[in-house]
Amino acid sequence: MSASRRRFLQGIGVLTGAGVLRAWGAPMHMAMPKKSSGLCQHDIADQTAVPRLLDPAHLTPYVDDLPLPPVLRPVHGEVLRIAMRETRQRLHRELPPARLWTYGGSFPGPTIEARSGSALRVEWINQLPTKHFLPVDHHVCGAEPDVPDVRSVVHVHGARVPASEDGYPTDWFVPGQSRRQSYPNGQDAATLWYHDHTMGIERLNLYAGMFGMYLLRDEHELSLGLPSGEFEWPLVLSDRLLTEDGQLYYPESGVADAPWVPEVFGNVMLVNGAVLPKLEVRARRYRFRVLNAANGRFFRLSLRGQRPFLQIGSDQGLLAAPVRQTSLFLAPGERADLVIDFADLAGSQVELMNDSLPLMRFDIAASKESDASAVPAALRDVPRMVESTASITRVLSIDEYSDCVSEPMLMLLDGKHWHDPVSEKPRLGSTEIWSLVNLTEDTHPIHLHLVRFQILDRRPFDVNTYLDTKTLRYTGPAQPPPAHEAGWKDTAQVYPGMVTRYIIKFEGFTGRYVWHCHLLEHASNEMMRPFEVVA
Ligand code: C2O
Ligand code: CU
Ligand code: CU
Repeated sequence: MSASRRRFLQGIGVLTGAGVLRAWGAPMHMAMPKKSSGLCQHDIADQTAVPRLLDPAHLTPYVDDLPLPPVLRPVHGEVLRIAMRETRQRLHRELPPARLWTYGGSFPGPTIEARSGSALRVEWINQLPTKHFLPVDHHVCGAEPDVPDVRSVVHVHGARVPASEDGYPTDWFVPGQSRRQSYPNGQDAATLWYHDHTMGIERLNLYAGMFGMYLLRDEHELSLGLPSGEFEWPLVLSDRLLTEDGQLYYPESGVADAPWVPEVFGNVMLVNGAVLPKLEVRARRYRFRVLNAANGRFFRLSLRGQRPFLQIGSDQGLLAAPVRQTSLFLAPGERADLVIDFADLAGSQVELMNDSLPLMRFDIAASKESDASAVPAALRDVPRMVESTASITRVLSIDEYSDCVSEPMLMLLDGKHWHDPVSEKPRLGSTEIWSLVNLTEDTHPIHLHLVRFQILDRRPFDVNTYLDTKTLRYTGPAQPPPAHEAGWKDTAQVYPGMVTRYIIKFEGFTGRYVWHCHLLEHASNEMMRPFEVVA
């Protein structure tokens, strides 16, 4: 644990007591510096002033209804206009409204509903204030003191779009400006989402509230008879550190001019922007589009009592067949498409849990009803990609460094910085294997723009041998992905001490895109690299 992180945690402990610390749950993973030298570049400030934090146990649970973000269904040819702006919104009825930065004035932003094959244009309008309300670190790549404090650029996560429309991190624009982006939607139905992607400050912009869902539907999916309309809900999960007066607190390192911290975990969990909401449901099937939009928290979801549910889709659309689950581990950036049947629970209540703590409650109507929805045994043809179709395997390491005990760690992909020359240049139409060698002690959710991929396998290896000799000595057999991870992905969990292999077909467009860790604090400290699809 870095000194700054330790200092931060101590600060919280002193001010709020161990009870709150326990209530957060232990961080799912902690960054460990791999090496350190004696060179300190920053003066260490006094203990960062941590405001008094909210004890979520003081809030009455299940008094607020689960919010439904507004839905935007553009008609053909229409340009959606979505303004980014500061707003105030209550996260729980017993709290004062929180200051947030949003798309369209709601947190989460409006759900965009699109159809496969029908292009969509959005004009993103930056109406944010010119001063950031969260701590910008000017040492972080892309947020140097000479660039404006407040910048934004929007990326639709999981969308197959031309490079110019992807929201490249340096394509940012400032308050008073806007940007038109086109989304061809030439891909299968999927649970996509949009969020800020601004170089050096995306972690702050997302934390401030800048994300929303983008649901792409297609004829095939609509023909299945899955629960729809009022029986289909987005569940956007996030966590925030909230102060006693209900405001966002973004932690700082304690180093005066370098506030970046390696991970952020909230004391409060939010579903669709609400603390411990309830949803009244009928005694029938519902479909839930679950998104982990947190900066750093992994969610381990279950229904109280380990009641089973069905997973029907993952990041990039439907699975081949429904998978019966009792719990689901979702990393930041990942999505899961679930069906829960409440028919046997008529007249009762069931909580959606994250580990041992509830996130929300479903209150089920007293009487059973007829349910015309269906969950077919075969959902979609998802052919497994074959290893032999790949023309090249790239071995790419995932590393963490620390120059000094007090200095933030640096996290890199394949030992390269953002500004190093582009080293991954797949050919358009080719298939590649990316062998991700995780040398750290964390799980990193690694995401590629533009493409969908499949997980080939994960295999344990000896990290020390690799660090000494750069050779892979496997310590166990390769494990194929479990059924719920065997569909189309765009973000996957790359486990520590394992080689995770993605098989990827680079389809769609040429040009420059990015791949990165979706732990946003990692991504903004150089765990992000360009790649370029070439003709
Ligand atoms: Cu959620 Cu670079 O993406
Ligand atoms: Cu993305
Ligand atoms: Cu990471």
